[in-house]
Amino acid sequence: MPHILRAQQFDPKSLDAIFRRVHEFEVMLRDAYTRRTLRRFFPEVMLFNIFYAESLRTRASFYMAAYRLGMNIFDSQNGDQFSSQYRDYWNRGETLEDTIRVLCTLGPDIIVLRRPEEGAAERAAKVSTVPIINAGDGKGQHPTQAVLDICTIYRKFGAIAGLTILIGGDLRYGRTARSLAYLLSKYPNVRLIFVAPEELQMGEDVLEHLREHRVVFSKHTALEEVIGEADAIYWTRTQREKMGDEIAYEDVAHRYRIDRRIMGLMKKTTVILHPLPRNDEIDPAIDADPRVLFFEQTRISIPVRMALLELALGNTYLSQRIPRFV
Ligand code: NCD
Repeated sequence: MPHILRAQQFDPKSLDAIFRRVHEFEVMLRDAYTRRTLRRFFPEVMLFNIFYAESLRTRASFYMAAYRLGMNIFDSQNGDQFSSQYRDYWNRGETLEDTIRVLCTLGPDIIVLRRPEEGAAERAAKVSTVPIINAGDGKGQHPTQAVLDICTIYRKFGAIAGLTILIGGDLRYGRTARSLAYLLSKYPNVRLIFVAPEELQMGEDVLEHLREHRVVFSKHTALEEVIGEADAIYWTRTQREKMGDEIAYEDVAHRYRIDRRIMGLMKKTTVILHPLPRNDEIDPAIDADPRVLFFEQTRISIPVRMALLELALGNTYLSQRIPRFV
């Protein structure tokens, strides 16, 4: 089953094919006639967009990607309140496995899932009869975001190999940063620079993976000292809602702010990315700078997610449909 659960499952070859498909979809989306043609691709497909944790960007982006491919969409955001008590109430105590089993009996062709617990998508995939796409599992991973992030970088430089990428902000709770690091580790001669308060540094699981794959990386707290070395900067917000009692938000938030002065320390060719939403870690005054790619990331998320939906449905789609007509 071609689930999309973790960034590690992609490699440069599969990403290359995705980048090419993204380009094709992008060209087709530009023109009214081909945009209509795209809507004929998957008219029989039913996508369940199941979000059990807060989301606007990702959820709307999956919805639009599915819509552009002519799919039918059931879209649900439940238990998006931060309190787990409320979530349990909403869920009426049902296990994730049961929820997925129940949903599968209703006949979706694909399920996009966001849950607050790490590892949720993998658990769902174990019992699902249709492909699961991980749209964020707590502080675990967010692989489709990482694919669109790396695609944005690729389109700027024409390659990923050989780049120095600075990943900063909240690396402990930020799943997009984690997924991106896993993806980048697949390319030769990539150097990673992690900048974060010590309490929010990149997790040992990711660092161990980087060591195993002989990726050169370093950890820092002072952004100014290393920012000039990066080709691309990936900044993230402090993930207040994921900290629980482990860390006091106010102790670690507001340590960095990317503004015009900081931009002045970057190389002229360095680009800056952010998965959004942003808080005060990015000064909106820099938005007009052509090196800022935040909104390009969200724009490209549509053709990227179209390519990923197509990939996940891929071979199973036909074989899965045939029995229904028998
Ligand atoms: C990110 C997420 O949900 O992990 N947002 C997104 O998907 N665009 C980042 C975040 O919440 O800070």
